[in-house]
Amino acid sequence: VDVSRDPFDRIMSSLDGPMIVVTAAAADERGGCLVGFHAQSSITPGRYSVWLSKVNHTYRVAQYATHLGVHFLSSSNRALAELFGTRSGDQIDKFAGRDVVTGPGLVPLLAECANQMAVRKVAVLDEGGDHVCVVTEPVLVRDASPFEPLMLSQLSGLRAGHPAEEREEPPTMRAP
Ligand SMILES: Cc1cc2nc3c(=O)[nH]c(=O)nc-3n(C[C@H](O)[C@H](O)[C@H](O)COP(=O)(O)O)c2cc1C
Repeated sequence: VDVSRDPFDRIMSSLDGPMIVVTAAAADERGGCLVGFHAQSSITPGRYSVWLSKVNHTYRVAQYATHLGVHFLSSSNRALAELFGTRSGDQIDKFAGRDVVTGPGLVPLLAECANQMAVRKVAVLDEGGDHVCVVTEPVLVRDASPFEPLMLSQLSGLRAGHPAEEREEPPTMRAP
């Protein structure tokens, strides 16, 4: 028994889930990151929600974007998961040299992911935590199912390019 972690952490780390890459574009900048927090969130109308970390470059780009790209990774996309999950758009262009298709709202879509959606942002929930919920409406969906999703359990050992703990408490709430 790992007594260094609390019960919430223990339950969460016992769960597994499929991994996606979320992309966005705004003001001539492209962003994208690996995301484990995501789910279908309505049947009619169809809704898909993703949670973006406030410290990520992707979050900053997504704030100004109308659409996002949601790419469901398959077991052949391991290297892509590593690139989008461990490196930051603050330092590198993750899209350089990749086959990128421009989708609705100029969203950059990764051609190498056969199961993908262009989604329109419908609502954003920031309840004060380190991730923000973006509720979206799928507007363009490509699928090559059945496919074998790349699971969180297959990515153990990856260190996030921007760990959520980077989020700073401001020394003051007053403007300088
Ligand atoms: C296993 C794993 C799961 C992750 N899940 C999320 C997530 O749900 N939401 C998110 O915004 N970032 C998540 N990240 C973190 C980002 O993918 C990572 O910090 C990335 O390098 C940020 O890139 P950016 O600064 O270019 O946006 C995850 C990272 C890993 C390794």
